[in-house]
Amino acid sequence: MERQTEVKSEAIQLQKRISSKEIKKYQKLENQIKVREILAAPDYLYLSSTEFIQHFTNLITAKEEHNLWESHKDYIKIIGYANRGMLETCLKYFTKIKDDLVIATTPLHHTSWRDGIEKFVKHENIHIIDLNDSFNGLEKFPDIQKCDLVIITHMFGQDFDLTGLAKFKERTGAIIIEDRVQGGTLDIKFSSDLTDLALYSMAMDKRPIALGGAFLYIRKEHEEIAKNLLEMIMHYPLEPIRKRFIDLLKKIPTYLLYNQRGITFLFLRIIKMLKLNLLDFTNTYRKKNPGFERNNFTLKPSKGLMKSMSQHYHDHRNMENLYEKKHMLFRSYLSNDLIQRHFPWYREAALTPYNTIYIDEKYVNKFLRFMNRSDICIIHNPTYKMFNFSYPGDEKYSKFNSGIVYLPSLANMNHEEIRYLADRIDRFDKVVYKNQIPQN
Ligand SMILES: Cc1ncc(COP(=O)(O)O)c(C=O)c1O
Repeated sequence: MERQTEVKSEAIQLQKRISSKEIKKYQKLENQIKVREILAAPDYLYLSSTEFIQHFTNLITAKEEHNLWESHKDYIKIIGYANRGMLETCLKYFTKIKDDLVIATTPLHHTSWRDGIEKFVKHENIHIIDLNDSFNGLEKFPDIQKCDLVIITHMFGQDFDLTGLAKFKERTGAIIIEDRVQGGTLDIKFSSDLTDLALYSMAMDKRPIALGGAFLYIRKEHEEIAKNLLEMIMHYPLEPIRKRFIDLLKKIPTYLLYNQRGITFLFLRIIKMLKLNLLDFTNTYRKKNPGFERNNFTLKPSKGLMKSMSQHYHDHRNMENLYEKKHMLFRSYLSNDLIQRHFPWYREAALTPYNTIYIDEKYVNKFLRFMNRSDICIIHNPTYKMFNFSYPGDEKYSKFNSGIVYLPSLANMNHEEIRYLADRIDRFDKVVYKNQIPQN
């Protein structure tokens, strides 16, 4: 009892010695962000080193023949070598059965989809569906009577709001294909009841990851189409084991740089020591990244790749939990004003390692330089592309597309780094929009 009284009075004395002004200062210090750098790249691979090694050993241990398809109650799953190869297979098939294929499509796609569509569909037969001003939903459908396919690419790790699609589908009878690689949760196979085919990728930084491979879901009512697509894939040349082995080897530097914080730390030090430009290096690395294959993708997956895919097919839940948790934390540090200006599409959590921000076109270079000075690795839109022809209203998408920047992936960042990143964005926004000079 005596001892307790002693301790209490010591505490009171201590409090007396610290003025209330100082207490406030200490509280502020406690709240101050404790880091000044971010040890994360603009991309992340949800994969442990053991899993990485297992993809190599699968090349030797895979003996079993896996089926390239599975039949479920309402849908058929078809497995392929790459998402882009599967899109090409679909488009080849539809150009065969429909004369003069006409499509309606969202304006922005992954480069491979943009190129695939332009390869198989005449420019004058590609009609653009307008997006809403938040770039997260469909706004206006083209006024056309004939439409064979609707091709939708979801963006930013969430599904588009497909308002208006039901009417358009009913009027034209079009088949709906979606690129769900950057779409919402894989707990559902299709983003809506209206979709007929949904395509996914299991490549490097996708969900789930097998360091290669892809799959699609097609509704049971399109069994005939499914049979034809399967037949085409079965006749593709088999992916050679040597090719898979070399592709895996090429992914090692990227894996280390994206996932191992120690390596990222070393990398940032070396860049500083050699006085190199971090932004130039990051962008060049992404463009020339040895881990991202760019050609020869109409193949049949090897046994090793099939085994890797079957092991990881169910991983998406843990990945989505991680992405969602980190996304919501980051979001909690952003004001509504910031969200409206820089993340207008936010509706659900972004279920992707890509942490995307939108910067008004006229400030993009300023933003890139600002982040570069803060030693934060960012990349100017490496994913989304517009079509190579012009159409009415394309300025809106050109402006939006050139304002997309990838920030460091939240998945590999700790709490303090996430606060630091949000703080940097806030400071930049204040400089640009409120003419306030940042303190550091
Ligand atoms: C949105 C989107 N669609 C399609 C693809 C192509 O996937 P794959 O590499 O399996 O062909 C990617 C890959 O980066 C992507 O991000």
